Amino acid sequence: MNVTEAIRKRRSIRKYKEGILIPDDHIQLMLEAAMMAPSAGNTRPWEFVVIQNREIMEEITQISPYARMMRTASAAIAVCALPDTQTGVCSGFWPQDCGAAAENILLQAQDLGYGTCWCGMYPIQQRVEKAQELLKVTSVPYAVIAVGVPAQEPEARGYYDPGRVKYIK
Ligand SMILES: Cc1cc2nc3c(=O)[nH]c(=O)nc-3n(C[C@H](O)[C@H](O)[C@H](O)COP(=O)(O)O)c2cc1C
Repeated sequence: MNVTEAIRKRRSIRKYKEGILIPDDHIQLMLEAAMMAPSAGNTRPWEFVVIQNREIMEEITQISPYARMMRTASAAIAVCALPDTQTGVCSGFWPQDCGAAAENILLQAQDLGYGTCWCGMYPIQQRVEKAQELLKVTSVPYAVIAVGVPAQEPEARGYYDPGRVKYIK
């Protein structure tokens, strides 16, 4: 699958085939993709938590009512921000950098045949604090991404809208 296909085939998947273990080398590819994302001044203001523990994944459903797909997902990858790594002219770009890292995880997973769902944590402070406690991190849990083999084929939701584009030639 090339990038053109991966972008167009990706959907948010909220139901996964259960009992499937994602091999370590596939998780590694997703983490590498995340850390190859662009970042302001190459500050790389992120760290990642790989969750393959059913109890912790169940706990994530208690943090966000919109994370129930964690119950069937094989794994979750938390993208956690390190805002203090950005100073001076790079300050404050970390949400954009973490978004780029998260999207790279989604596209790498798509290429490997997995489905994903991005579960937003930041900027909802209550979710951030609960996720910090659950994952035992002091960084800022920005998003938790469910990963697994899809058990559904949702219709495309994204579409090209020419009305949102202005050309300046
Ligand atoms: C910042 C962000 C937060 C999101 N949070 C959730 C979430 O908590 N739960 C969920 O089911 N989907 C979540 N999504 C997925 C969106 O609902 C989904 O991308 C959108 O409906 C478009 O569908 P598609 O991904 O299949 O194209 C989130 C997406 C983004 C970018």
